[in-house]
Amino acid sequence: MKHTFLDLGTQPIANKFLQEAGEDEYKFNLTVEFDDETKLVSLGNFVRPELMFNDSYVYHSSNSDTMRKHFKDYSQLLKEDFNPQKVLEIGSNDGVFVRNFDQKTTIAVEPCGNFAQLTNAMHYETYNEFWSMDLAKRIIKEHGKRDLISSSNCICHIQNLDEAFAGISECLSEDGIFVFEDPSLILMLERVSYDQIYDEHAHIFSVTALQNLLNRNGLEIFRVDNLEVHGGSNRIYACKIGARNVEKSVAVNLEFEDKHGIGDLKTYQDFARKVQKSKDSLNDILIDLKSKGKKIVSYGATSKSTTVFNYCGIGPDLIDYIVDTTADKQGKLSPGMHIPVVSPDSGFDETVDVAFLGAWNYEKEILAKEQRFIKDGGKFITHIPYVRVVGTSA
Ligand code: TMP
Repeated sequence: MKHTFLDLGTQPIANKFLQEAGEDEYKFNLTVEFDDETKLVSLGNFVRPELMFNDSYVYHSSNSDTMRKHFKDYSQLLKEDFNPQKVLEIGSNDGVFVRNFDQKTTIAVEPCGNFAQLTNAMHYETYNEFWSMDLAKRIIKEHGKRDLISSSNCICHIQNLDEAFAGISECLSEDGIFVFEDPSLILMLERVSYDQIYDEHAHIFSVTALQNLLNRNGLEIFRVDNLEVHGGSNRIYACKIGARNVEKSVAVNLEFEDKHGIGDLKTYQDFARKVQKSKDSLNDILIDLKSKGKKIVSYGATSKSTTVFNYCGIGPDLIDYIVDTTADKQGKLSPGMHIPVVSPDSGFDETVDVAFLGAWNYEKEILAKEQRFIKDGGKFITHIPYVRVVGTSA
């Protein structure tokens, strides 16, 4: 049975920045459910994939030093531990992962045409479509089964997980591995990072729920790495049931999640109360600063901040503009609340008093590079794990 435990109100497509205020915007009710049978946490209303992932998708996986290094290190680890020969990536985005592998033996799947074009131009054969059983069968026919299927921040976008996992199981060689990383549910609960919830994240995964869903599709988890990227993620290593030794990290994660109530509805109801409190505190601090005449901006036009601003009702009356390094977002308006987005070069200057960390998951990288702002008296605010000022002059 499914239980709705959180309602984040009416929300737009998190990455659909507007050219101008009058444009039509698709809106939906962002609710979240807990399935007490599989323990899976999912959105109550899925958005049609074509509305989110299309030829004008703006999110670049290689948008930060943190993520470029992350994918380089990750590729290195896979080569050292598994030496995969035939590689497939599902959701290859701008090629930040595949570029570490050989073009001749690596293929990619990417539904966003702008990115598929990019990786095709890099000579990685890229199927410009959504992952499906039908595609899995065609790939087997045209290229053979895969030793490594990798997917980062993409499996949680897939609404029908049974079909996706069955297709992956089909496409994997007998001792092949399926490695994927997505935001961690247990860390979202712990950090009150409710902004991990937006249209693209159809599910927020626990290891517990994944174990249940993978098992019923012939796969099992044999290793789990806990990562700090994207505000706290898990890297899940799966294989065909019985194909590999199951490592200790699997039981460690399952036990940890159990101890923290991952299977209890009450855990999610408690989380919903903390989310409400976070909203109230963020509004209080921003309204107080504004009433004192402070200029407030947001740092990073993230999907996460779309959830925060629309749920908390924070618009241009509180936040003058958002600074973001992504050229495709600059000169546009943020989804739903219509806050202008500008480049850091033109907007992150001495007139700014306070910056809300929309990209809180890059706090370390941002604080390190914005020491000047802090030294000059600027303040960063985060809402993770509770609303507060962060960063002191080094
Ligand atoms: P993400 O949290 O989904 O990875 O998105 C991060 C966004 O923040 C992306 O649009 C790039 C932007 N960003 C900056 O503008 N400046 C920065 O220093 C960093 C790290 C990210």
